[in-house]
Amino acid sequence: MKLQASIFSNSGRLLCRSLSDRPFTFLAGNRSKCKRRDIAGQLSNARGKSTFTLADTQADEIYDQAQANAASFDKKYNLKDHAKFTVPNSVRTLAIVTASLEEAMKNGSYELKSVPNHIPRPPYARTGAVPQPPHHNIINGEYSLNSLRNSARLARDVLDIACNSAKAGMTTNELDQIVHDAIISKGAYPSPLNYAGFPKSVCSSINEVICHGIPDERPMKRGDLASFDVSCFLDGFHGDNCGSIIVGDETMFDLETIDEIEFLSAKEEHLFISGQRLIQAAQEALDAAIATCKDGSCLSDIGGAISSVSDAYGYSSVEKYRGHGVGEHFHCPPFVKHFRNDDYLELKEGMVFTIEPMLTEARQDCFEWDSDGWTVATKDGGRSAQFEHMVAITKDGAEILTLPTPVDEM
Ligand code: MF3
Ligand code: CO
Repeated sequence: MKLQASIFSNSGRLLCRSLSDRPFTFLAGNRSKCKRRDIAGQLSNARGKSTFTLADTQADEIYDQAQANAASFDKKYNLKDHAKFTVPNSVRTLAIVTASLEEAMKNGSYELKSVPNHIPRPPYARTGAVPQPPHHNIINGEYSLNSLRNSARLARDVLDIACNSAKAGMTTNELDQIVHDAIISKGAYPSPLNYAGFPKSVCSSINEVICHGIPDERPMKRGDLASFDVSCFLDGFHGDNCGSIIVGDETMFDLETIDEIEFLSAKEEHLFISGQRLIQAAQEALDAAIATCKDGSCLSDIGGAISSVSDAYGYSSVEKYRGHGVGEHFHCPPFVKHFRNDDYLELKEGMVFTIEPMLTEARQDCFEWDSDGWTVATKDGGRSAQFEHMVAITKDGAEILTLPTPVDEM
């Protein structure tokens, strides 16, 4: 029997180490070096070949590697046209949102799931009002970092539970219940619940929904590309992460067992495989971004790496929603763009933030549903995949905090 599948490649930490061991000159230096390098650069028009932030050689290397990975994926799965998609893949955006929820969202009378009294809550839990965050997010001291590690690990374990529970026929409300119960059973509070009025305990974003999807009564379908964003508040610190899967009949669709799957049509097969390609790209973009991070590296290198991967696969990276500092506050600076940019902030040991690229099949333009004020979807109906990790910047790399509990500690 297969053990609980772990949705991320857990090689992130290793990858970081091996990359940051190499003498990339762009990684060294203080804020002024970071600036000088970028001022000297020019934004190249060539896709994936930015000289703006990432050093040329580094951007080229990431781009070439991603292009090779994309090509070998296409060859292996005989994928002719990854970008060909039928709109709509799902009826999410076109469907009428449950009238009762729409009404409740408008007048603020939605019902929140209960959380046992003994569980400590973040300040917004009762009123929905989010306090002003601080201007920086440097975590000082082992105590705080350890608390963050615990919270991040719980968020990850519950994300794995969510991804392993999802199956065709299950509603996203049922999934919300599973996530809610798993989090409160560990004495933690589900961070989304009443965050600025968000009515549920998890974000479930299906197909063309990019992020902030609200769980509802609609069942997930075979072949849906589902992103679950799980976050929790434990001992005063937030943990936050997200991953994407393709929904199958009993469990998530797995490329390794593709030979055992009976596809109902060529169209369905294309839907599964092209979705998995998008998922791979989003995961790779996150890995490449993390690999640029270390004390002294430049915040803008993160977006440069993500754009390089996204370009190489022929996708787009969503610009409107960003990674963020995380700790005692759910969201605080630094905000992390997932595309080439000129945010020349030097990363410092002890900074903790998320990186959470959302890649889309075609264009990245998005809009929010009128009906709930939260759900973000692509304008063109193309699907979106997202992976998110929390990282802590160290002297020579980045520690990924959202790793699962090791088997021997379970
Ligand atoms: N977890 C999301 C993030 O990655 C934020 C969700 S806010 C919510 O930042 F209110 F929608 F939950
Ligand atoms: Co986040």
